[in-house]
Amino acid sequence: MKICCIGAGYVGGPTMAVIAEKCPDITVTVVDINRQRIDAWNSDTLPVYEPGLDATVRAARGRNLFFSTEVDTAIREADIVFISVNTPTKTYGEGAGRAADLKYIELCARRIAEVSDSSKIIVEKSTVPVRTADVVRQILAASAKPGCSFQVLSNPEFLAEGTAIADLQLPDRVLIGGDTASPAGLAAIEKLASVYARWIPRERILSTNVWSSELSKLTANAFLAQRISSINAISQLCEATGADVDEVARAIGRDSRIGPKFLKSSVGFGGSCFQKDILNLVYLCQFFGLPEVAAYWEAVVKMNDHQKRRFTRRVVTTMFNTVSGKKIGVLGFAFKKDTNDTRESAAIYVCADLLEEQAALTVFDPKVTEKGIREDVGAVLAERGHDAEALLARLTVADSAEAATRDSHAVLVLTEWDQFKSLDFKAIYAGMKKPAFLFDGRNILDIPALRALGFTAHGIGKGS
Ligand code: NAD
Ligand code: UGA
Repeated sequence: MKICCIGAGYVGGPTMAVIAEKCPDITVTVVDINRQRIDAWNSDTLPVYEPGLDATVRAARGRNLFFSTEVDTAIREADIVFISVNTPTKTYGEGAGRAADLKYIELCARRIAEVSDSSKIIVEKSTVPVRTADVVRQILAASAKPGCSFQVLSNPEFLAEGTAIADLQLPDRVLIGGDTASPAGLAAIEKLASVYARWIPRERILSTNVWSSELSKLTANAFLAQRISSINAISQLCEATGADVDEVARAIGRDSRIGPKFLKSSVGFGGSCFQKDILNLVYLCQFFGLPEVAAYWEAVVKMNDHQKRRFTRRVVTTMFNTVSGKKIGVLGFAFKKDTNDTRESAAIYVCADLLEEQAALTVFDPKVTEKGIREDVGAVLAERGHDAEALLARLTVADSAEAATRDSHAVLVLTEWDQFKSLDFKAIYAGMKKPAFLFDGRNILDIPALRALGFTAHGIGKGS
């Protein structure tokens, strides 16, 4: 069997590496139009940082795992073609700012139809709006060569960055949506299921109709993000009343109906998908004439924006209502620990807000490059109508946490990297201007212990 995956990103790369590792008899080729990315996948410095990924790629690359820019050849030779391209929020025209931009999906469907000279199973791995398989089917049917037929399956990916390899090795479930009403549809579902069944227990492989599968992916992300916005909403009430949000989370999480996961209050959720997918859900609800349902889910994103803004406001008001000319050390820039991904990271917005307040920032992240940090913050400043270059003159990037915090008035923790928990805060305090402020945007530090060292320390959802 031969598999081709179009899109060598955070999903395509790790997902196919695990399939190749687990199925040595299947040839897996990951293709992309981005040559630089493919070159990186073929090098010792992979484009994605993910614990365990290096070893997985090393085990299979060159054996039955290949990364290539030869898109047409890989499609033509494959029995199963995964589409794992990006589906960002549309920035133009109808649905701008909410709907998913499906142009890359459509381009893939057209390419598959054009170059295929045998029948194939096409798998939507990208996150797409419900009914997208209809679009893919229509494009394939309209331009397929004689004798070629296509079965379109939905197989959304549920991995989280930072734990992608573990998530792929033993997922809670694999979801396969297909045409459950026809024998050909059922056969296609079974063919894909049999690949996963090489290492995943059958009871974890679920099959549904295509629409349920597509909608389940958006719904899963909306439910997860909704828990974070809910606990973040409560965090503000905690700060006003003296309750401690971590204690509240522990208490409610013990209710087995609620459960303990995704109740960590933070400076706000980031990542390439939560906001994009909820906005997509909001657009779908509006499209289908369901304004109340749309407003309900939109509130999850609004609460997240509020949480990011109020974090910066708290920093400024606590530091005597001005941070102008003050040096602030920023620890962490990735949207969560154990990844080099910064897409929609709360840190981008906090840094942009503080540069608008004329603070001088020194940022440190163990896996994010200086170029990446400057580009991300610069893009938001430009979007807000600023001269980005001028404001970025006050942002520097340090190569250690110690260097980022030296001589600073305040330290902000914006990503929960484990190494920040074991920093020598006594030494950091000694090297800072006094009073020394510390704002833990991830609640990973012991706030009372920091206060005992002399810091004016604040956590999310913790009174002062
Ligand atoms: P990404 O931007 O990292 O990767 C997408 C890749 O597709 C890019 O390298 C791009 O060059 C390539 N591409 C685009 N159009 C192409 C074309 N016509 N031919 C060949 N290559 C093309 O995106 P990602 O984070 O891997 O996400 C991909 C999809 O998976 C999205 O729909 C996303 O919502 C979904 N998803 C992402 C995650 C995650 O953790 N990042 C998890 C689950 C689902
Ligand atoms: C999320 C989902 O968890 C995956 O199941 C899904 O496949 C993926 O989106 C996707 O569709 O892209 P990911 O964004 O990689 O995965 O990472 P998460 O662990 O979900 O974290 C998202 C954001 O929420 C991070 O900024 C994280 O710090 C924040 N978060 C998470 C909290 O603030 N509190 C929590 O309790 C959990």
